[in-house]
Amino acid sequence: MKLPEHIAIIMDGNGRWAKAKGFPRSYGHVVGCDNLEKMCDVIFDMGIKYLTVYAFSTENWKRSINEVGILMNLFRRYLKRLLNRAKKDSIRIRVIGSRVGLAPDILKIINELEEKTKNYTNMYFQIALNYGSRDEIMRGVKKIAEDIRLQKISPEDITEDMISKSLDTGDIPDPDLLIRTSGEQRISNFLLWQLAYSEMYFTDTAWPDFKKPQLMEAIEAFNGRDRRYGAVK
Ligand code: IPE
Ligand code: IPE
Ligand code: MG
Repeated sequence: MKLPEHIAIIMDGNGRWAKAKGFPRSYGHVVGCDNLEKMCDVIFDMGIKYLTVYAFSTENWKRSINEVGILMNLFRRYLKRLLNRAKKDSIRIRVIGSRVGLAPDILKIINELEEKTKNYTNMYFQIALNYGSRDEIMRGVKKIAEDIRLQKISPEDITEDMISKSLDTGDIPDPDLLIRTSGEQRISNFLLWQLAYSEMYFTDTAWPDFKKPQLMEAIEAFNGRDRRYGAVK
């Protein structure tokens, strides 16, 4: 079976999963976070080199203060645990998204994670936290505009590659497969530029129930697709 080199996941449905079981939404986030740790192991053990997950969007700040607070506490604990995991298997960690609005202690953990794993090349794990693709593209455009202002380049010099490199995903290859759990069939402002030719897989399974067998189904579906990139094959 052909494995995707880069899988991106919109981990959706924690709240509905918990509600359906009579628990508060926050319980869904706790179990969802647990599942992320387990699925990370599964995915990297399979030999997939790049994994990018959507953990918190720029729009998710609109949720209740209570839910946002619980999510931020989960990220704190999760990101702290991640360093040991990253060291064990030489996984480079990158947190993509805006740094504006995140608590100083979370920023500190993120900086430490990125700094201490920056030379690892075995696997690459991107966590989209306070991430919105339009925000990412806007920040990228500002960087390019600044280069024009400083007369390092002129507008005619702008290439697609330059735009790709200006994004938080910089030198990371585009995802081959995007998975979204829990029934919604939309992108919700995730990797708009990078997903140009990714295969999309939507499943009704909620994120806390998305395990290895469900991942295998997604990879099988990916194998059944005829990938074209616009060319006639
Ligand atoms: C995904 O689950 C996790 C985050 C967005 C942080 P949701 O919280 O969106 O769960 P549903 O979609 O409301 O069920
Ligand atoms: C997308 O899910 C963001 C994450 C999974 C972190 P949402 O649940 O926030 O997206 P919408 O509101 O259904 O579009
Ligand atoms: Mg949701």
